[in-house]
Amino acid sequence: MALDRITQLAVTIRMTCAHPRVSGGAAVIPPRVSFRSEPAGADILQTGSAEPSLVAEVLTARMQGAGTPPGCLGVPDVGYFMIETQCGEPPRRAEGLVAIITGSAQGFGLGIAENLLSEGARVVVADINAEQGQACAADFEDRYGKGRALFQVADVTDSESLAACVAGSVRAFGGVDMLVSNAGVLKAGGITELDERAFDLVNRVNYKGFFLCVKAVTPVMRLQHSLHEGHVMDIVQVNSKSGLEGSNRNFAYAGSKFGSIGLVQSFALELVGDHIKVNAVCPGNYFDGPLWSDPETGLFVQYLRAGKVAGAKTVDDVKQFYQSKVPMGRGCTPDDVAKAIYYLHDQNYETGQALPVTGGQIMLS
Ligand SMILES: NC(=O)c1ccc[n+]([C@@H]2O[C@H](COP(=O)([O-])OP(=O)(O)OC[C@H]3O[C@@H](n4cnc5c(N)ncnc54)[C@H](O)[C@@H]3O)[C@@H](O)[C@H]2O)c1
Repeated sequence: MALDRITQLAVTIRMTCAHPRVSGGAAVIPPRVSFRSEPAGADILQTGSAEPSLVAEVLTARMQGAGTPPGCLGVPDVGYFMIETQCGEPPRRAEGLVAIITGSAQGFGLGIAENLLSEGARVVVADINAEQGQACAADFEDRYGKGRALFQVADVTDSESLAACVAGSVRAFGGVDMLVSNAGVLKAGGITELDERAFDLVNRVNYKGFFLCVKAVTPVMRLQHSLHEGHVMDIVQVNSKSGLEGSNRNFAYAGSKFGSIGLVQSFALELVGDHIKVNAVCPGNYFDGPLWSDPETGLFVQYLRAGKVAGAKTVDDVKQFYQSKVPMGRGCTPDDVAKAIYYLHDQNYETGQALPVTGGQIMLS
């Protein structure tokens, strides 16, 4: 996938500012780089060229002279790039990180996005549900500050939609350091009931969708690596405990998640040279999330109606039954998953792994 000129320039500017060669030995937190048609500040450095390598040269000279980047870079025939550096607070776990989280208009994705924000990241809420996604990003900006969150409509089954999402993210934030491939669907059912359409849908979103997300984001990540080879990036797939152990009458979902672990391992091998780690987190059931607890469509109410749990008379009875299967006695939460993501992010000597977050329900051998 070829990158457009603005994407290339935004990444070049951000990675140049963060490069130890430019910042006097210490790798600095990558600044936010956003593309604007109008300059908003007085401190504009004109590059005189739109060629990325020449833009990097001009910026390097400025950084080495003044010690700091300009507030705005003017690129002839392209436009203006605002550069916002961070200062003040001590670095948090995701300081300066730009993260795209697919399927983050609700559920696990929403909670992971909020956790990353609270630790200093800039997040892209990428979801097929525009109304809810837009509202989430607006709420994030209200609570965490302007320029911290962006909504991008994205259908993970459509490569064009993903390319636009990545390009929009780079225009707003200057790059992408982490992809959390979280969007997923579940259609349960045994061999007799589940039809081919449902099987295809689950595999298109959960399995092929992961491939398309990785394909869309790797050109930007590879470019970042070529500009700053110390920059380590992460692709994290939100998999499931059903990607580690078969799931009765839920084979379409389990198959899509097992298959995704094959993709994780293979992408990890292919991308290791570009300093892109590829891992999966495998959560247990998020009982308090909409998939299980929605009063109309949630799995608890569905299982109660279907009489799936012998003797259960209320939704609470069904919930108790499922909670009792977890050694730690409770469901998984987005914060539990976020902690696993921070581990994978911090750990630069691991890739291709599938990390369970199941309260002891799944143990690796
Ligand atoms: N809920 C659980 O108990 C549980 C357990 C283990 C793993 N998971 C995994 O966690 C991930 C999130 O699950 P959840 O329970 O939060 O789901 P959810 O149904 O609450 O939310 C899924 C989000 O994905 C979006 N989405 C659906 N199709 C999309 C598409 N084609 N493109 C872009 N976005 C799309 C939806 O609009 C929604 O916002 C999934 O991959 C799921 O398999 C969930």
